[in-house]
Order: sequence, then C-alpha cells, then structure tokens
Amino acid sequence: MVELALPKNSTINEGRTWDRPKGANNIREFRIYRWSPDDDENPRLDTYYVDLDDCGPMVLDALLWIKNNVDSTLTLRRSCREGICGSCAMNIDGSNTLACTKGMDEIDGSVAVYPLPHMPVVKDLVPDLTVPYAQLRSIEPWLKTETPEPQKEWKQSHEDREKLDGLYECILCFCCQTSCPSYWWNGERYLGPAVLLQAYRWLIDSRDEAKGERLDALEDPFKLYRCHTIMNCTQSCPKGLNPAKAIAEIKKMMVERRV
Ligand code: SF4
Ligand code: SF4
Ligand code: FES
Repeated sequence: MVELALPKNSTINEGRTWDRPKGANNIREFRIYRWSPDDDENPRLDTYYVDLDDCGPMVLDALLWIKNNVDSTLTLRRSCREGICGSCAMNIDGSNTLACTKGMDEIDGSVAVYPLPHMPVVKDLVPDLTVPYAQLRSIEPWLKTETPEPQKEWKQSHEDREKLDGLYECILCFCCQTSCPSYWWNGERYLGPAVLLQAYRWLIDSRDEAKGERLDALEDPFKLYRCHTIMNCTQSCPKGLNPAKAIAEIKKMMVERRV
C-alpha cells in the first residue's frame, strides 16, 4: 500500500496556553499561529487571554497587548494602524483582512489569527511577499511616456482622473492575492488580483503612453487568463475595491484591440 507522508512542518500542533491576566474581568481568548524558522518544530497554535479593559478595540491592539504584556516573541508586521500601509494583513476569524481595522466586536468567541494563506512564512504572522512584489515590479507600475515632459505637470481632465477611482486606493495588502484559488495553485505564473488591479490602474491612466506594450506583456496563458472570476478577491478586499472587475476590464481591452 502507498504510504503518504505530509510535508515537513505542514501540520499545526496544539501549542502553549498562556496565563490569564490576573484580576481581569473582561477577557478575550486568542488562538494564534506560531512558527519560527529558528527551531526545527512544526507550527503550533498558542492560546492567549487579553484583558479587554486594558486594550484598544481592534485585533491589532490585542496582538500588541499580547506582545507588550505576555509574549514579546510574537512576530507581526504593522505600521500605520489605520488601514493605510497594508502591512498588518493577516487571516482573522477565517478571512483575510487588516488587523488594525478589524474590530474585536465583529468576531464571536475566540479570535483565530493566522498569517495570510498559501504564502511561505518568515515567522509567526509575517508572510514572505517576495513573489508578489516581484510580480508588481514586472508590470512596471509607473507612468510611461514618449511625449517630452511638460514644464509643470502631466494634466488630466476630471473625467479621466475619475477613471482611477477604485484603483488608486489599493494599499497592496495582498488580502485579495492570497485569497484567490487560482493564485494559490499558479502563484509563480498567474499575476494575481492585486497585481492585475495595479496593471489596470496604469492601462486606463489617460497620461500613460505604453498601453499597447502593457497589454502585450499580459498576453499570456497564465499571467492574466488564470482568473476564473471566482470573486474571492473582491470579497476579501478590506478597502472595498473590486480587483475582479479590473481583471475583466483588462480582458475586454484585449478583445477590443483584436477587432
Ligand atoms: S476573480 Fe479572478 S483574481 Fe479574483 S479570486 Fe477569482 S480567480 Fe482570483
Ligand atoms: S485590491 Fe484590496 S485586497 Fe487587494 S491589495 Fe489592494 S487593497 Fe489589498
Ligand atoms: S497597520 Fe497599516 S494597514 Fe494595518
């Protein structure tokens, strides 16, 4: 009989249960994914208890409370703490979102916290984003022009500027990218929703003069066409953006330039 072995580090063990804060009356349980490359052990789920009377209302507040009061080794990324930098993206209560804008009052019971799914983990809640950043670089996310630069600024009509609404707000948190099943299976070759939303942002910028070149670069069986309109991306965007629609618009541009 064939014996199948799970890859190393693929099972999550029950971890340590940390002490409840002494004298606290308003406590919330957190179950948090822990893994370190420095020890040769499987990931584990640690249980922590947060004193809500001593902590802000967001999941990020609780994670920092744990780090400051219970376990300083808990590792996570964060910067702005107001939904602007995208660095605190993680999987909370089963959905990809930003820890700093996710209120604990939106979650029932114990709060489960994991890193963004289907990405290599650097440590604990920190995913390795090397591949999506390289993919972002590949679409050349900057203004490309042939016309000599104007003395003051590249002007745009109000109507053309409005075409960037719903796109420029993307904070590159990669919640959408890592919730996309097509990206899970073809992450090295499919560009994924976050990167394609950025590609569309430059394709419809009235000042950009590299539309043909940009579309040529996306004309590939994997980079664009692995999107099967499953829509997980749009559902998970914490900024309310619609990467699936942006991808559909790029596909439409591809068809229109052929006719
Ligand atoms: S719509 Fe496309 S990009 Fe979005 S989750 Fe589905 S396959 Fe992925
Ligand atoms: S589209 Fe939304 S979910 Fe995707 S990277 Fe941008 S802000 Fe994050
Ligand atoms: S800390 Fe910047 S988006 Fe959450």
